[in-house]
Amino acid sequence: MSLDWIKYRNDFPMLNRTMHGKPLIYLDTAATAQKPLVVIDAIHDFYQNHYGTVHRAVYELALQSSQRYQQTREKVQRFLHAAKPEEIIFTRGTTESINLVAYSFGKAFVQPGDEILISAMEHHSNIVPWQLLCEDRQAILKVIPMNHQGEILLEEYKKLLNSRTKLVAIAHVSNSLGTLNPIKEMTQMAHQVNARVLIDGAQSAPHMKIDVQDLDSDFFVFSGHKLYGPTGIGILYGKGDLLEQMPPYQGGGDMIETVTFSKTSYNVPPLKFEAGTPMIAEVIGLGASIDYIESISLECIQGWEHELVKHATARLQEIEGLRIIGTASDKGSLISFVVKGVHALDIGTLLDLRGIAIRTGHHCAQPVMNFFGVPATARASFAFYNTKEEVDQFAQALQEVIQLLI
Ligand SMILES: Cc1ncc(COP(=O)(O)O)c(C=O)c1O
Repeated sequence: MSLDWIKYRNDFPMLNRTMHGKPLIYLDTAATAQKPLVVIDAIHDFYQNHYGTVHRAVYELALQSSQRYQQTREKVQRFLHAAKPEEIIFTRGTTESINLVAYSFGKAFVQPGDEILISAMEHHSNIVPWQLLCEDRQAILKVIPMNHQGEILLEEYKKLLNSRTKLVAIAHVSNSLGTLNPIKEMTQMAHQVNARVLIDGAQSAPHMKIDVQDLDSDFFVFSGHKLYGPTGIGILYGKGDLLEQMPPYQGGGDMIETVTFSKTSYNVPPLKFEAGTPMIAEVIGLGASIDYIESISLECIQGWEHELVKHATARLQEIEGLRIIGTASDKGSLISFVVKGVHALDIGTLLDLRGIAIRTGHHCAQPVMNFFGVPATARASFAFYNTKEEVDQFAQALQEVIQLLI
């Protein structure tokens, strides 16, 4: 590990603590990322020195709050390379962003008999909202199959696309397999039948540079807490023309233009989709996390994480009885695995006693577990703050706990 990465690692106070008397080795960034001090300080400073509401008052505190809130919108716009800040909507997270699109896009554009496509490797957050929509609109949900490497079958996808396809919703990177999907190509294919595309970027935005215009995404969503920012804040990017045609998701303050008891007219996007007092401090915290990530550069982050995953894959492949679930040729920053004769939960519990935090279970992707015929997997996920030494300690500890369990 080069000196620079150690410097960045030291920005994360949590990574200096111990767990069960051992130095914490945090390998669950795919679930949620640890926070650098600059993010913690930005939130603390905002509450302590600058706290005020947004949009609603003429006094200086509120004006400054509103300005910082809007500046973060512009930061996110640059981060995603969106065409304009009005295309950035603040939500509570990836889950809420997808629900918003399913509800509002569904209401505006989905008719009985229309089809929505998702892939076989989606997180429940990118399955259930579409099921709810399809039930509501008598539309049909279809699933793009994958192979046993965990790669989408593009030929099958092509066959599923037709003039009834209204929207394709796919993960950029699968949280349960690590697969990096060819979303640019899939988007082009969808656009050929005039279908819209939602990219679930929960596992990609924190790890690689995103350019929504180059991808030509109609919607792109991610969560702040996986991007080293606070919980309770997420992003929905939507193309301006689409957002204008979509009805509001929730009613309340700020999303209106005028209200009378007989009729309400709505604000323009993004405010049309941001009802009520928003997550002001969380937005400020997200802004700090984006500044921080950009000060390192996502290209460098992706390069280092790629090395970590390559190293970890090689170390895990040395372990007898261990099978990696998800062996696509392009992968993000995580590895799922099972070990013959050992339950993933037991592995996770014994690793925890050694100070190592990994995720075990179905990873909110039960259809993926069913496809691979396993009840659960163990998952190690990496961030730029992890080291090769940690990977080695993890592999060593894993060998030891497997010996204890079989
Ligand atoms: C691919 C993917 N989609 C959606 C989500 C849901 O994100 P959140 O719980 O932050 O809304 C996650 C979270 O793990 C994820 O990994």
